[in-house]
Amino acid sequence: MWKRGVVIPGARMQRALEHPGTRRFSLTLLAGSDAAMRVQDEILLARLYNELVVAGRIHKTTRRNRFKGLDRIIVEVLGRELPDVPEIALHDVGASSGVTTLELWKTLLSVRPGRAHASDYYANMLLVRCEGHPLVVACDEEGAPLQFTLGEFVFSAGQRESLFRPCNRWLQARARARLPDVARVIAARKEGRTLPSGWSVEVVALWHPACRLAAAADARFTLGRHDVCAVMSPRWHFVRAMNVLNPGYFSPERQREAVRALAGSLLPGGLLLIGRTREEADSSNVATLFRASSAGLEAILDLRGGAENKELVLEAGKRS
Ligand SMILES: C[S@@+](CC[C@H](N)C(=O)[O-])C[C@H]1O[C@@H](n2cnc3c(N)ncnc32)[C@H](O)[C@@H]1O
Repeated sequence: MWKRGVVIPGARMQRALEHPGTRRFSLTLLAGSDAAMRVQDEILLARLYNELVVAGRIHKTTRRNRFKGLDRIIVEVLGRELPDVPEIALHDVGASSGVTTLELWKTLLSVRPGRAHASDYYANMLLVRCEGHPLVVACDEEGAPLQFTLGEFVFSAGQRESLFRPCNRWLQARARARLPDVARVIAARKEGRTLPSGWSVEVVALWHPACRLAAAADARFTLGRHDVCAVMSPRWHFVRAMNVLNPGYFSPERQREAVRALAGSLLPGGLLLIGRTREEADSSNVATLFRASSAGLEAILDLRGGAENKELVLEAGKRS
């Protein structure tokens, strides 16, 4: 009839972590200014990130060691291609929690000096609450809802609750009914106006605690919000866009726009890695490494057959 979610740490949370099932984890577990620092449990973080589906279809799923072998290859190729650069500048776009950026940076540092920037367009989430009401709506920064927490119940904003759980379905519909109010609150916040009485918005950064600590400790590791399609001046020796420009996420036109922006952000001779992790198969990384030349992007290395959109990248990356 119904299924409760996990909304507070405790025995139920532990059981749900030990027995992976269909219980939803509330994104409010990331709330509170020091919560992300407290959430050191990788399994819990993975469950919370699985709840984050942005732009209606893009998962923020990532994990430690996703690119372990690949990182070493990249650092080796950078050594061959750019041997004389005193400090390598790398940018990881669509980095999600940034945990794989941190790993790449550390692999680079074990060999030569470098700095790294992890960026993501959905770097923050907003938790919208109304005083005296049990509903918390988690939204992206544009105000698109991601998840509802209503008392002990947790619902996806995008996916309808199953017909087999009529109580959940009914409560989800009630939560949805508040969306026009939430939209007004987010619009007021965006325009710098006073929020309607009783409403509040909490901003929660979605970086991994280890990344926040690294950024606080070392100025060579930075975190920021960036749209993969936004134009940047040439400033990077290496740019990585893994599991971002997936054909399932972006239309061919948006992919081309992103490739032009990424290619334009490379210094002469700089490298760009585009690819995808085949989660549906053996979790291998299919990717292509491109080099910025006077004619545009050229492919210099295919991994596991190369990026699925390699031809599109080559075509969009040509210099006119
Ligand atoms: C599947 S995750 C990939 C994370 C990491 N690169 C990895 O491979 O483990 C895709 C990421 O792309 C981000 N993203 C989606 N649209 C974006 C955009 N327009 N600009 C930058 N990042 C975007 C999402 O927020 C999400 O964190």
